[in-house]
Amino acid sequence: MQTRIEIPQPDDWHVHLRDDTMLAAVVGYTARRFRYAMVMPNLVPPVTSTSAARGYRSRILAHVPSDAPDFRPLMALYCSPAIDVEDLRSGVDEGTVAAVKYYPAGATTNSGDGGTSMLDFLWLFEALADLGVRLLVHAESTDPSIDIFDREVAFLETELVVVRDRIPELDITVEHVSTRRGVEFVTEHDRVAGTITPHHLTRDRSDLLAEGMRPDLYCKPVINSADDRSALVAVATAADPSFFLGTDSAPHPTTAKYGPRASAGVFNAAYGLEVVAEVFERAGALDRLAAFTSVNGRAVYGVPSPDHHLRLTRTTIDADVASTLTTASGEQVVLFGADEAARWTIESV
Ligand code: NCD
Ligand code: ZN
Repeated sequence: MQTRIEIPQPDDWHVHLRDDTMLAAVVGYTARRFRYAMVMPNLVPPVTSTSAARGYRSRILAHVPSDAPDFRPLMALYCSPAIDVEDLRSGVDEGTVAAVKYYPAGATTNSGDGGTSMLDFLWLFEALADLGVRLLVHAESTDPSIDIFDREVAFLETELVVVRDRIPELDITVEHVSTRRGVEFVTEHDRVAGTITPHHLTRDRSDLLAEGMRPDLYCKPVINSADDRSALVAVATAADPSFFLGTDSAPHPTTAKYGPRASAGVFNAAYGLEVVAEVFERAGALDRLAAFTSVNGRAVYGVPSPDHHLRLTRTTIDADVASTLTTASGEQVVLFGADEAARWTIESV
């Protein structure tokens, strides 16, 4: 039996496109599939000014393949003391800057220039509230005494809640929500939305650790318990308007993944949509897929509705799909979701 569904063109509200040869190798995957993409600023050095964001966007567009002319990268600045409010204001006015991303220093890949306390940035968050620009948050405590699986909840309950109470008119996106409590936090607060990744929807920490440690599933925040995963699936498939797809696609070469300290990040731009379609299919919720992938995020970010559609077909015979890509410098990156991708074909209509 074939299952078939059409959805408006989806968007990716959280993606790492990197720079140089990695950018050249990965951007086509995102640009061919998604219309808008919120591009994360954790380059080295981080993107903290309008001119840096402008330059990065041109490098991205220079590498977009010619068969993806409608791709619209939206640029986020990296929350740092280096941000100048006047520069931010002009970046927003000219349409270059779409959001600001807060990283706790040391929580994840390239977060070394991040903050040690959100309270140090109230001056910036007030400006964001004033401009109507969203604050994107990597919600993970860096307190070493807190268990790694409890760090999202600790951050939400000790840091983000304080900012939210101090500046209730600030629009916030909790990125890559990974826990049941994280889902509740988003649901309980007005003006707070959440992105969810394909890997947090489909894997739990037993998949990560039980049968040989799997560096390809290692990301921040770490994939959490089966109960957390089911809370994420429930809210995503319920078409709750506060939640939408952010793949957190984060390519790392196998040389960085398969060493004694795996780098954090899962590359899922290639097959993230197939993975999510499989989740909705299994939940009997394919009719609500479009809300999660194409509708809710656009409403939250205030971008126009999609004009063309994708047709997704689930086949009974698995196709052969690539499981890695190779960059121009010969590095390999593992493509997350090849098993799911083998079961789906996706075409533009
Ligand atoms: C991201 C990366 O590699 O840039 N890694 C990750 O595990 N998600 C950074 C991030 O979003 O945390
Ligand atoms: Zn990310």
